[in-house]
Amino acid sequence: MKKTHLLVLLLSLLLAVVFVGCEGEQGPEGPQGPEGPMGPAGEDATVSEYTFLGNMGEDCMHCHSGTVTQWESTGHVNAYANLEEEDRSNLYCVKCHTTGFDSEVAFGDTEIAEGNYGPDMYGYDDYVGVEGEEAEMRRHALEGVQCEACHGPLGPTFNAHRPEISFSTHNDADGNSTSSCNPCHGGQLEEWLESGHGNVVDADIELFNEEHYTHNPSCDGCHTSEGFIREHDPRYADYEFPEEQSFVGCVTCHDPHSAGNAAQIRDLGDEQLSYIADDEGDVPTITGLGNGQVCVQCHHARRDAANVQGQIENGSSHFGPHHSAQGDMLIGNGSYEIPGYEYARLNEGFNHTGVENGCVGCHMVRDAEVHGEVQEHAFHTFEPEVGSCTSCHSSMTEIEAFRADLNTEITGKMDQIAVLLGYTDHVEMEENWDADNRDNAEPWQREVAYAAFFIIGDGSMGLHNPTYANSLLDNAIAYGNEQAAK
Ligand code: HEC
Ligand code: HEC
Ligand code: HEC
Ligand code: HEC
Ligand code: HEC
Ligand code: HEC
Ligand code: HEC
Ligand code: HEC
Ligand code: HEC
Repeated sequence: MKKTHLLVLLLSLLLAVVFVGCEGEQGPEGPQGPEGPMGPAGEDATVSEYTFLGNMGEDCMHCHSGTVTQWESTGHVNAYANLEEEDRSNLYCVKCHTTGFDSEVAFGDTEIAEGNYGPDMYGYDDYVGVEGEEAEMRRHALEGVQCEACHGPLGPTFNAHRPEISFSTHNDADGNSTSSCNPCHGGQLEEWLESGHGNVVDADIELFNEEHYTHNPSCDGCHTSEGFIREHDPRYADYEFPEEQSFVGCVTCHDPHSAGNAAQIRDLGDEQLSYIADDEGDVPTITGLGNGQVCVQCHHARRDAANVQGQIENGSSHFGPHHSAQGDMLIGNGSYEIPGYEYARLNEGFNHTGVENGCVGCHMVRDAEVHGEVQEHAFHTFEPEVGSCTSCHSSMTEIEAFRADLNTEITGKMDQIAVLLGYTDHVEMEENWDADNRDNAEPWQREVAYAAFFIIGDGSMGLHNPTYANSLLDNAIAYGNEQAAK
């Protein structure tokens, strides 16, 4: 671009010098010469001179048609169209609802300060306030959150096809977010930073990459963004991911070009339990949790039948179903069950699987202010919110009383199991069991202990499914007493 300008300038200067030098009288016109050879091919008229292409993915269609079509089903497409007429001239609103807007604009600013055009030119902000048909066309081409909002400018030609692509959500050494959702989704990013997902090993990305569950294919499918995408998205089965892995972040759960669901969720598939007691028929499946299905892709017990059987017979250095048994607990299955005992799985008819969107209903959804209006909002701290309970339970007071009672009940039964197995309480048992169970326990003791470790692995102290939790503990205590008396 700039080179061309310079060339044109130099040429005209040269011509000017030549003309200035020829000031003599004009001679008679000579005969026409022969036709010259064909000149070099001119610039393709369709090649844009602009850095951002925009045009709603039209230029990507030829090679990525599936991706474009899927993106067309997301809310990003209409991010500008959904603005009220008067907000379209509000720079503050426009900055997150268009493509390539990289100037700083504060709430209330009515124009972009001169010289403040951001690091690149020809994004939406570079045409704000510019008169004329062409500027208007360019603005129109850059409405909405298009491909280049996340992949960076890809014009003027595809010779420069070097899209940015990021699977990670963390801050780099300079404190800049690696997430392509930054800066438009600052709210969710802040919430996420406070969450269990954002806070693994103190949110230190270097330490995280040294952890035993990164770069280990039997762990990273649930513990890292890259591992999850590799396992759950067929497009990435053979992809060469960057060496550095990152936390469970925005593009772990969201795929900006996935069709068919309102929140761009990557995988809402059913999840079959890894383990069921031997006498079961069909493998139970975690299904019907709406957007909560994405949670159970990872939050499910991970031991298979052979492993559980091995744990009972020989013990294990990581006893129990793993820390992720929430999906199994919610549907009331997937723990080791003692042969000959009846297990109650779910409160008949109505239970916590009936919460709208399952996990999401209690752990994310709550009322919040979005752009000054209170509405239902998906909170990304993933902390359960008691306000969401009153759609079924009559009042907060009732809930608090229920929780206190349930906690006393479950803690009491866990302690009974601990005492049966020679510990003072369940906390002491949890601390010492992994060291003890391989050498100093008998299979019946491991059968009893498994119930307690399933409850610990779930982490809600029975709240996800009071019926199953109580049933597991009651049966374990009855069987334990019977065996201890022998
Ligand atoms: C002429 C064909 C062509 C066009 C047009 C095209 N791409 Fe690509 N694109 C490719 C090819 C080829 C790859 C490499 C695919 C691979 O590695 O599997 C690719 C890869 C990508 C990637 C993945 C990069 C990575 O690191 O894995 C992104 C993102 C991308 N293109 C975005 C775009 C966008 C946005 C547009 C439109 C502005 C576009 N492409 C237009 C051919 C094209
Ligand atoms: C340029 C700003 C911008 C960027 C970058 C951006 N978004 Fe958005 N996003 C928006 C806006 C604006 C909306 C609201 C669109 C509407 O409803 O009109 C939105 C809506 C959404 C929604 C709501 C569901 C939907 O389809 O309407 C999800 C989910 C979402 N974005 C996820 C993401 C993720 C994940 C990333 C990063 C990979 C991201 N966004 C990057 C601006 C952005
Ligand atoms: C910092 C970036 C940013 C700014 C500034 C911004 N928005 Fe948004 N807007 C978003 C994102 C991201 C969403 C997606 C919804 C969410 O975050 O929950 C959104 C969603 C919306 C929606 C769709 C809400 C819905 O219910 O689906 C409207 C309408 C909207 N914004 C209007 C505005 C207006 C008007 C302004 C200016 C006063 C504005 N936005 C300023 C980022 C922004
Ligand atoms: C909101 C941000 C965002 C938008 C908008 C977006 N992408 Fe992507 N894109 C990503 C992220 C993040 C990845 C890597 C993870 C994934 O695929 O979900 C990606 C991956 C890709 C890939 C490589 C994977 C594949 O499908 O082969 C291509 C190609 C691609 N994008 C093209 C496009 C095109 C074309 C558009 C516009 C129609 C677009 N993207 C819009 C964020 C975005
Ligand atoms: C099926 C998915 C899944 C697999 C596979 C998996 N984990 Fe986990 N893991 C989880 C979930 C989900 C949690 C968090 C649950 C909670 O905190 O309640 C977790 C928690 C943990 C924790 C405790 C929390 C922490 O971050 O310190 C450790 C340690 C751990 N996993 C190690 C591993 C190791 C090592 C492997 C591989 C040998 C592995 N995990 C494989 C899903 C999985
Ligand atoms: C562990 C999975 C997970 C992660 C990580 C995650 N999200 Fe979400 N997100 C969801 C689910 C599930 C929903 C749908 C909630 C619902 O049904 O209301 C959602 C909804 C949203 C919405 C819709 C807004 C709303 O209030 O309904 C936006 C925007 C969004 N996420 C952006 C992000 C961004 C940006 C990040 C990274 C900081 C992120 N998400 C990380 C699972 C996740
Ligand atoms: C990609 C796998 C994955 C998905 C999907 C996922 N999680 Fe997690 N979750 C984990 C892991 C692993 C941990 C442990 C912290 C870590 O290592 O990231 C965790 C931690 C948590 C914690 C904190 C637990 C604690 O002990 O502090 C909560 C709460 C949680 N997840 C809820 C959810 C909800 C709700 C969803 C669905 C919206 C979800 N998760 C989706 C893997 C996942
Ligand atoms: C009925 C509402 C509800 C539903 C549905 C629900 N949870 Fe919970 N969850 C809670 C409450 C309440 C806690 C206890 C939090 C506490 O004690 O601080 C909890 C605890 C947890 C914990 C342990 C948190 C920690 O800090 O150790 C994880 C992880 C978790 N839930 C994930 C999930 C997943 C995944 C699902 C879906 C399979 C789910 N939850 C379904 C309400 C719910
Ligand atoms: C969809 C309706 C629904 C929602 C929402 C819901 N619950 Fe429940 N809850 C029930 C039902 C039905 C039972 C009894 C069923 C059972 O034992 O599984 C129950 C049982 C309980 C119990 C055990 C009460 C007892 O009798 O021991 C506690 C504690 C509890 N819920 C807490 C919560 C909390 C905390 C939340 C919000 C985070 C919540 N519930 C949200 C329907 C709901």
